[in-house]
Amino acid sequence: MFNRRKFLRISAVSASITALSKYSTVKAADLIAPGNLPIVISTWDFGIAANKEAWKTLASGGRALDAVEAGVKIPEADMNNHTVGRAGYPDRDGHVTLDACIMDEFGNCGSVAAMENIAHPITVARLVMEKTPHVMLVGDGATQFAVEQGIKKEKLLTPESEEAWKKWLVKAEYSPKINIENEQRRPGSKYNHDTIGMLAIDVKGNISGACTTSGMAFKLHGRVGDSPIIGAGLYVDNEVGGATSTGVGEEVIRNVGSFLVVELMRQGYSPEDACKEAVNRIIKKKPVAAKNLQVGFLAINKKGEYGAYAIQEGFSFAVCDSKKQDLLIPGKSFYKESK
Ligand code: GLY
Repeated sequence: MFNRRKFLRISAVSASITALSKYSTVKAADLIAPGNLPIVISTWDFGIAANKEAWKTLASGGRALDAVEAGVKIPEADMNNHTVGRAGYPDRDGHVTLDACIMDEFGNCGSVAAMENIAHPITVARLVMEKTPHVMLVGDGATQFAVEQGIKKEKLLTPESEEAWKKWLVKAEYSPKINIENEQRRPGSKYNHDTIGMLAIDVKGNISGACTTSGMAFKLHGRVGDSPIIGAGLYVDNEVGGATSTGVGEEVIRNVGSFLVVELMRQGYSPEDACKEAVNRIIKKKPVAAKNLQVGFLAINKKGEYGAYAIQEGFSFAVCDSKKQDLLIPGKSFYKESK
């Protein structure tokens, strides 16, 4: 049935598509737009720049999968970002090892873990998904595959990262602290960072997600967190929605966090309530340890409604749609609410 509000929303989307793209191939019939679609959301304040890049694809009628890959490549390339991509801090032995995964609307997924010398792990994850019968490649095998696909090997350890690692080596204590990434990675920033997890819905209503990180700084060599693990760091079900996570990956893996969030949304939970329940399960299992660790979840449902929840205060997420391209929202958190 004709609905004026929906029509106006679709008109706004059409206008932004026309304005932003020379090659729009989207027909009005494609704009099912049940919510304010298309939309892209991602973790932390660096998500704003990443979303803007993803938006170029979404606003021109492109596929959510292309949008999330393009979007997360922005922080992967950012030399000031020491938690994702080429300038990521190394492990305790001085190796920069990167983790990433990607998932599309068909349930296809690809992942790389503990991969060295390749600056854009998300692209390799997508190649694993599209060019191999596998889901995950790790370590030297992932690097070898990337090179076979024509990607250049690069030295990733920057002088700044090397200096930070050498300072860390003086005491060589590995003790993840709440939002430690903020202190280590962007001095002066108001917000904390870690993994970028991104979820997008395109004009056809299809959902995809991407997640990429250099993992915990100064981790044991070979350590893999939640970010490249489908179901932990990222999960997408095109009938329901998508979820992604940030923070101490071990706790997310133990609870298969992103899959849990999507399954809770399937049962009728709102995105925020689903993220809250996933956080509560981590806290319930480890009430003492949880006081000193951070995990945040971010989710979107099929209608384009989104929400987030974290253990600790300080988690933020970025939202970009036809109304606003640079929204940053402070995530709710267990410890703030409990104070
Ligand atoms: N969430 C990122 C990691 O634990 O590696």
